[in-house]
Amino acid sequence: MFVISTIVIYKSKYGSTKQYAEWIAEELNCKVLDAKNIGISDILHYNTIIYGGGLYAETIAGVTLLTKNRDKLKDKKLIVFTTGITPIDCRDYYDKLVIKKNFGSISLSDFKIYNFPGKMVTSELSFVHRTAIKTLKKIMSDKDNPTEMEKLLIELCDADGDFTDKRLIKELVQYARS
Ligand SMILES: Cc1cc2nc3c(=O)[nH]c(=O)nc-3n(C[C@H](O)[C@H](O)[C@H](O)COP(=O)(O)O)c2cc1C
Repeated sequence: MFVISTIVIYKSKYGSTKQYAEWIAEELNCKVLDAKNIGISDILHYNTIIYGGGLYAETIAGVTLLTKNRDKLKDKKLIVFTTGITPIDCRDYYDKLVIKKNFGSISLSDFKIYNFPGKMVTSELSFVHRTAIKTLKKIMSDKDNPTEMEKLLIELCDADGDFTDKRLIKELVQYARS
């Protein structure tokens, strides 16, 4: 008998991607695993693979687990979700910058991608991350004629809060079930 099986994998430093992964797995009644504990061979027997990663300088944390193993993942339903502080209606950012950086020349017809708002709570950030955000803000603020994207980045450096929202997983869950 052919059994449909689904797994949710996540890589999360501050917990927002983990939170979405747990919400999705709960809805789909499937297993959820931290990417740090697995390798590609651990997920090959699943039909639907859902991968979530926080965005760090446009990179989807850990997504190379899928992008570097495309040949092994043929015929699977592959779903990727990101969490970040860039508003999810900034489609140019997600559909161009993030896609280009993480998927390069890989055919996007192989993946279904969703973007969710994450969290950035200043008091929780590591020293390195807090310094990186401060430095980025300074570099952008010192520009004479910042672009609209750079102006947004300056604003986002001051983001402080948890913007996760369980209602947003609905479409992903429906697609995973379909
Ligand atoms: C150093 C640093 C870089 C970040 N870069 C981005 C980014 O490029 N785009 C974005 O939307 N959010 C960015 N963020 C915000 C994180 O993606 C957001 O906090 C995310 O929810 C973190 O996921 P996690 O809680 O699962 O670790 C950055 C945060 C830090 C601390």
